Amino acid sequence: MTLIVLNFKTYREATGDNALRLAEICEDVSKEYSVKIIAAPQVADIHAISEAVKIPVYAQHIDGVGYGGFTGHVTAASLKAAGASGSLINHSERRLKLADIEASISACKSFGLATIVCTNNVATTRAAAAMKPDYVAVEPPELIGSGIPVSKADPGIVKGSVDAVKKIEPGVGVLCGAGITHGEDLKAALELGSEGVLLASGIVKAKDQRKALEELVTGA
Ligand code: G3P
Repeated sequence: MTLIVLNFKTYREATGDNALRLAEICEDVSKEYSVKIIAAPQVADIHAISEAVKIPVYAQHIDGVGYGGFTGHVTAASLKAAGASGSLINHSERRLKLADIEASISACKSFGLATIVCTNNVATTRAAAAMKPDYVAVEPPELIGSGIPVSKADPGIVKGSVDAVKKIEPGVGVLCGAGITHGEDLKAALELGSEGVLLASGIVKAKDQRKALEELVTGA
């Protein structure tokens, strides 16, 4: 099943009450069109959203630390308790060092949280796949927020990531993201062998978020 991961980032249109409304739209569209949609709101919005909707709710970042003296960190334990079922790791806007990525994946695994590790090119995709997350999501930073879809502007990075992961850890899924907005962008991503997309502004900043999400999932 095609996977759509909607990163709410810190956009006003996806913060607080707006985040809740957007998650409900994700749930409606997911049900109506039988597509898997994951909502990734800000940490402070996770609890309310996960109480209100049945679709999976992921964090945008997690730290690989446990209980104790780690002020300001985001732990797997707190995410789990808040109702999250997974987390993005190493997003382009929240980069981590290699050892921290590994610690974040381990922390998620020990609390039964799913993991999506973001990468910026085929080489980092290879490194991420070797750490066995559930998914890697390749996103060229220069296309993020540009409205220029990676699946059309840089098909090589998507195909290269899919091929690399198949060789290294075939059980790891591949997503792609950056500039994905329309159904045809998603279709191109799937044709390149990815299992879905990670996206944000094309839906979050749309005048009509529901319409934009419907267009994305029905146009593929
Ligand atoms: O996490 C998704 C993201 O970085 C891509 O952003 O706005 O280009 O869909 P956007």
